[in-house]
Amino acid sequence: MQIAIDGPAGAGKSTIARRLADKLGFVYIDTGAMYRCITWKAIKNEVDLADAGQLTNLARDTHIEFRQGSSHQLVFCDGQDVSSAIRSHEVNAAVSKVASHPEIRRIMVRQQQHMASNNSVVMDGRDIGECVLPEAEYKFFLTASIEERARRRQAELTATGLGHELEKVKIEIEERDKSDANREVGSLKILPDSIVIDSSSMTIDDLMNLILDTIRGSGYAV
Ligand code: DC
Repeated sequence: MQIAIDGPAGAGKSTIARRLADKLGFVYIDTGAMYRCITWKAIKNEVDLADAGQLTNLARDTHIEFRQGSSHQLVFCDGQDVSSAIRSHEVNAAVSKVASHPEIRRIMVRQQQHMASNNSVVMDGRDIGECVLPEAEYKFFLTASIEERARRRQAELTATGLGHELEKVKIEIEERDKSDANREVGSLKILPDSIVIDSSSMTIDDLMNLILDTIRGSGYAV
């Protein structure tokens, strides 16, 4: 089974996708982390983020892997644990620019489809329902108010030791949303078959129950 969860930054996608994958025994694939890896490596190697050719070469030469840690999933880039590094302010500010290059998206989408080919998956991102898993059984579009999303993202950053001011996080999210919604390929959008959920006033448990009820409602025993 394939479950796609798309939505803007801070809507709670990764938290719910991880929980859902745990509950169902599926593989969780955090596609945002993959774009973040390419961005992190490009910054480290001082690659011009506007240079599609250089970025493409770098992306082709990058091995991204998810490994299960003791309490959460870890992200490895070329064998190095970059789980915290890819959440830095610097990467946040640049990732949407990297993700806007169609060739980078093609490389990432191919890898994501490969990861999903032999497993039941919960995959979160921006273009999962449209480009990566167009045949997914469920396409959730998760959203929340900008204030709530900024608050959640700030809490997430604080938990990983990368605290930021709320107002700064909010501006960063707004800029990223604008750029993610307006790019030519793989833009964030609600699809005709999206199940839209506004989680602004929901707890994670509420959200989890709603998603599980939706899946049960169409006959799956979960
Ligand atoms: O979900 P996230 O905030 O970790 O995503 C980081 C960035 O990567 C986000 O600005 C948009 C981009 N992204 C994308 O373009 N397509 C995806 N499938 C996932 C993320």
